[in-house]
Amino acid sequence: MPLTQPTHLVLTRPGYANLLIEEFQDRWQLSGTAVGKAAVTFTCKTPMPALDESIFARQYLPMPSFFHGSALQPTVDFLVKKIAVMSKRTNRQSGRWTLHTFALDDDAATQRAIALEKALLTAIKATLPTFYQRHIAAADLAKEAPKSDDILVQVFVASEEELWLSLASFASKVSPYIGGNLRMRERSGAPSRSARKLEEAFVVLGRSPAPDELAVDLGAAPGGWTFTLARHGALVTAVDHGALDLPKNPAISARITHLHKDGLTYKPVQPVDWLCCDMLVGSRETLRILGEWLEQQLMQCFVVNVKLPQAKPWPILKEALALLQQHDWPVMKIKHLYHDRREVTLMGRRTP
Ligand SMILES: C[S@@+](CC[C@H](N)C(=O)[O-])C[C@H]1O[C@@H](n2cnc3c(N)ncnc32)[C@H](O)[C@@H]1O
Repeated sequence: MPLTQPTHLVLTRPGYANLLIEEFQDRWQLSGTAVGKAAVTFTCKTPMPALDESIFARQYLPMPSFFHGSALQPTVDFLVKKIAVMSKRTNRQSGRWTLHTFALDDDAATQRAIALEKALLTAIKATLPTFYQRHIAAADLAKEAPKSDDILVQVFVASEEELWLSLASFASKVSPYIGGNLRMRERSGAPSRSARKLEEAFVVLGRSPAPDELAVDLGAAPGGWTFTLARHGALVTAVDHGALDLPKNPAISARITHLHKDGLTYKPVQPVDWLCCDMLVGSRETLRILGEWLEQQLMQCFVVNVKLPQAKPWPILKEALALLQQHDWPVMKIKHLYHDRREVTLMGRRTP
């Protein structure tokens, strides 16, 4: 049990809690405490940054309550009691509410989360019928943009004995995705799982290629990103000495030109719409290339993956933030995407 009541629980990818602490301390002078491998508590009066601004934060649980215990019924009783109090505190005119009950990926607590969600909804229906009337299933809310007065009830099942509950309106900067994880589905024909990274980046950036836009893909092999760009209708120059393994689909292959060239030196003759780069090179090399493309105004949008060094990655991330700050584009982001591994994705678009 935490010693003081935190104002926020912040979720990140398992194994990145310490990097999230370093980021919040350095960029916003907010001191966090790790609770497990994917969660950090903060006790602060100042507002938290938007999730979009942070590299490592994926989800906020504002004003969370902690519960310790493994038996189902006492856990449900605790949650219903808390939800009854919290829901009264929110505006009576507030909109619908949805429930995210989740554990970390592949965690032993997943089964507990599934059982808990079912039992909790049944108990809310029986004991808080007026509140239950405004319930909307998470999948249905996900199809539309939640309104700012809609409410998100989150139950983060941290282990088989520990959980956190939070009830907050969408106005309080929470992510509409369960646990803040934007899972993309695998596309048939995609030559690598990396394709999902680029699909996720398009959602986070709020822009994907329009038909016949020009794209350059540096470090393209085996072709997951190139396939994705072509699938969206772009005309792609794929730069890599390695072989592409694209599906035998003329609608895709007609849009792709493969150049066996060095992505560290390649530049297009004319500016293009998209620079995409997933080259397996050092992080500073990648930042140097992105800096050159930005300086020479060679693209309208970019998605650039930066591999993180094993030891002390924060200094390189500060360099990446500084590089983006030098260029006054309306949208520039660095995110540790759900489909990223030990890497982050830099994204930008020149138009709002
Ligand atoms: C992680 S893979 C890219 C995966 C690709 N994005 C996909 O979706 O299939 C990294 C690629 O970078 C390429 N690479 C490394 N150094 C390069 C360079 N100097 N120029 C071009 N490609 C390079 C490698 O050949 C490798 O194919």
